[in-house]
Amino acid sequence: MSQYNTTILIIDDNEEHANATAEAIQKVGYKCIVATSGKAGLKIIETEEIDVVITDLIMHDFSGMEILKATKEKLPEAEIILITGYGTVETAVDAMQKGAATFLLKPININHLRAEINKLVEKQNLVRNNILLQKQLDEKYGLTGIIGNSASMQKVLTMVNQISGTNATVLITGESGTGKELIAKTIHNNSLRKHNPLVILNSAAIPENILESELFGHEKGSFTGALYQRKGKFEYAHRGTFFLDEIGDMPLSAQAKLLRVLEDGMITRIGSNESIEVDVRLIAATNQELGNLIKEGKFREDLYFRLNVIRIKLPPLRERLEDIPLLLDAFIREFSRLYSKEILQITPEARKILLRYQWPGNIRELKNCIESMVVITTKKYLDVEDLPDHIEKKSDEMPVSHGLMAGMTMEDAEIELIKCTLASVGGNREEAARMLGIGERTLYRKLDLYRLK
Ligand SMILES: Nc1ncnc2c1ncn2[C@@H]1O[C@H](COP(=O)(O)OP(=O)(O)OP(=O)(O)O)[C@@H](O)[C@H]1O
Ligand SMILES: [Mg+2]
Repeated sequence: MSQYNTTILIIDDNEEHANATAEAIQKVGYKCIVATSGKAGLKIIETEEIDVVITDLIMHDFSGMEILKATKEKLPEAEIILITGYGTVETAVDAMQKGAATFLLKPININHLRAEINKLVEKQNLVRNNILLQKQLDEKYGLTGIIGNSASMQKVLTMVNQISGTNATVLITGESGTGKELIAKTIHNNSLRKHNPLVILNSAAIPENILESELFGHEKGSFTGALYQRKGKFEYAHRGTFFLDEIGDMPLSAQAKLLRVLEDGMITRIGSNESIEVDVRLIAATNQELGNLIKEGKFREDLYFRLNVIRIKLPPLRERLEDIPLLLDAFIREFSRLYSKEILQITPEARKILLRYQWPGNIRELKNCIESMVVITTKKYLDVEDLPDHIEKKSDEMPVSHGLMAGMTMEDAEIELIKCTLASVGGNREEAARMLGIGERTLYRKLDLYRLK
């Protein structure tokens, strides 16, 4: 915002003064409104968007102090400059304590006034830009629907935030249901390509013989059954993002062609001699260990290096149990709304069981579990009896760490114990400290020391 859309209100019951001041300020590009009485000024404050109010301190109807009070109420972002005579400097100082930005002595030095206004407008713009930036950040982090307060998820979110705006190829790995597709969508939605298509293709779901045609398209008659010319997914993703899911299931021949596209940015439809340039950002995902597939000769190492520019590893849910309470609450709210049920709570017993469960299907499994509980419950809270059958219903045993072994240092063992204890109480540090027999502050210090926060 520049001075051209800054509006300044001048309140002075000496009409001549008011107009002269307005003229001097308008000359440097500000928009001015003049009020020649306190009452007229108050009316404008009630109804208009004003950025800076310049008011005389003593007027025949209302005082500058009353103008100040009204401005603070109606236009909390506005800055106020008081104009005062020698006799009322004390009042002006009082006004500054009540929130006026500054005061100027009569007769006004116009250059001085302009300088003050410029300073205030600049400050205002800075604050507004900051609010805007913060809002954009909130949208990035908040509106995407990625839930997770654990250190590992926060790391993922920071990374997503850092790389979304780039064109770098991303490889997302993680067990089934850990949120790979959600992350891919989030990256696209936070990128400059967000108004262009996000095309998704699951290599595992497409029969091998038509996968290449799906990816690159084909010309009419290029193979039996190719009755028409067809564009491939890469072409549809032009200027957008291509999410290649389950890349580990892609046959080697398609991998070779994919590698070529990544290297020169050109595709060739099957049966065509012509190359087409495509501008596509690739995000690939897999729940398999590509390292193992490479060893088995099922995945090209050179393609792996091409894809592995930025790697996002999504941790399994059992390694970030402290996220479960957050997810629980969010899913309960989501499905209660969806099924128009007034479910507000989950009983502590049921919650404990869910915290102890290992979640092999990760967040998807948790989400499905809550959905089914919301559907079947007849009460206003979810209880143990609403849990799916395959979840063990005893809640009294504690999680056991399998991380201890000879050769470990005491420090490693301590880290393992802290992690395991925290997991057993859903990240509740007060409870964990009690179980560990140490003070909460000691636990905090250790979490800090071992960077477990
Ligand atoms: N951090 C999260 N916060 C909220 N919801 C999540 C989160 N991660 C995943 N989900 C939800 O869990 C479900 C599964 O996520 P998604 O489909 O992204 O997993 P995936 O890793 O692609 O799984 P798969 O390997 O089985 O394809 C989706 O409904 C998704 O919205
Ligand atoms: Mg997926």
